[in-house]
Amino acid sequence: MVRISSQHTTIPGHRPSVDLPSWKRLGRPDRAVLPLRAFLGVVFSYAGLQKLADRNFFKASSPTSIQSQLRAYSQRSPIGGFLHVATHFPVPLGVLIAFGELAVGLGVVLGLWARVAAGGGMAISVGFLLTSSWHTNPFYLGPDLVYLVAFTPLLAMGSGPWSLDEVIRRRAADEVGAELPAPKETVAFERLQRVCRAYEQGRCQLQKGAPCAPVGCPVLRSPPLSAPVDLERRTLALQAAAAMAIGVGAVVVGGATGILGRLLDRGHSPANPSLAAGRALAPGQTSAPGTTAGPAQPVAGGPTSVPRAGRSNPAPSATTAVPPTGTPIGAAANVPVGGAASFTNPATGSVGWVVRPSSAHYAAFSGSCTHAGCPVRPAGARFVCPCHGAVFDKATGAVLQGPARRPLANIPVTVGPDGQLYVT
Ligand code: FES
Repeated sequence: MVRISSQHTTIPGHRPSVDLPSWKRLGRPDRAVLPLRAFLGVVFSYAGLQKLADRNFFKASSPTSIQSQLRAYSQRSPIGGFLHVATHFPVPLGVLIAFGELAVGLGVVLGLWARVAAGGGMAISVGFLLTSSWHTNPFYLGPDLVYLVAFTPLLAMGSGPWSLDEVIRRRAADEVGAELPAPKETVAFERLQRVCRAYEQGRCQLQKGAPCAPVGCPVLRSPPLSAPVDLERRTLALQAAAAMAIGVGAVVVGGATGILGRLLDRGHSPANPSLAAGRALAPGQTSAPGTTAGPAQPVAGGPTSVPRAGRSNPAPSATTAVPPTGTPIGAAANVPVGGAASFTNPATGSVGWVVRPSSAHYAAFSGSCTHAGCPVRPAGARFVCPCHGAVFDKATGAVLQGPARRPLANIPVTVGPDGQLYVT
């Protein structure tokens, strides 16, 4: 409780006679964390609500779903084994992450059990650091490392002023009739010498005229006030009640956000279809109703496939006269000309994209950004990575803009005589 330095002394229960202006009090360490609390609280609350509102987050066929992300990260993360197991219960895990972020955000911004909330925020940040940020290069571009470190002041200091914890403690003290210890203030030791009444010309009367110094000062040795047990119990009970009330409110708001997000999104057909969502064609049928498959181009010597992964300019594939050996992924006609459709790569279980530059030509790429593995999305003639802004050519997968340096991994595909696309 008592802190002594050569210049300043912290005195429990003592307030300096001259109060600092309010704007200067903002610079005190306990108040300096207020902007951090506001920032982390808003960001984590928003992240949780945004996941709940995004219907694609829980839709397995979406390339941005929790399912797709778990599959992609399970192959690249140091905790890939755990993620592989988690692919069996993606929706509960996604709900847990979303409400976990919301709980952390509310706890931090409202200042309720802020240390617990900060610990939760650090745990979530470690999870993201080991998955979505693990391959970020250079490492300082990964935001999760920054979030992880940003929680440490809150873990060390707790809620501080302007918090529910502070309000609740005052109320608990009123209810049990306890007196709260005054907040600690740091004052110059010379000020203490003026008010302690034992100081006289450099000597301490309480110490039989010994030289006055912070070390050994009997005033500073006075035992700190300890809060009565009743006060601690009552504070804990009120904090638990507040946490339950806020938790119920968060569940209601989170549920309402999820419903609202789906209602607002209803009727918006996805810009990029999923092959998994397309109807499989009957044998011998070469086009889906209402669509036109590319003209068959018999290729002598068997199916034409796209060059192997890692090359930046693959030749588009063409239809074949004989059934290709490979895994069908959906009807070729479901890929719009000039557009893209997502599919699940049968080799890895992760999301890939089939593009169709012209009616007869198809190519397919991994949906994982080669920078740090975030899922890329088609945008016009490009694939764009939302994490750090890498841009890839949609027809070839080549890098158009960093920080990614390698092209999107190419997946060889062929159109069979049955109109299906095959990963060969
Ligand atoms: Fe960093 Fe894609 S993951 S740009």
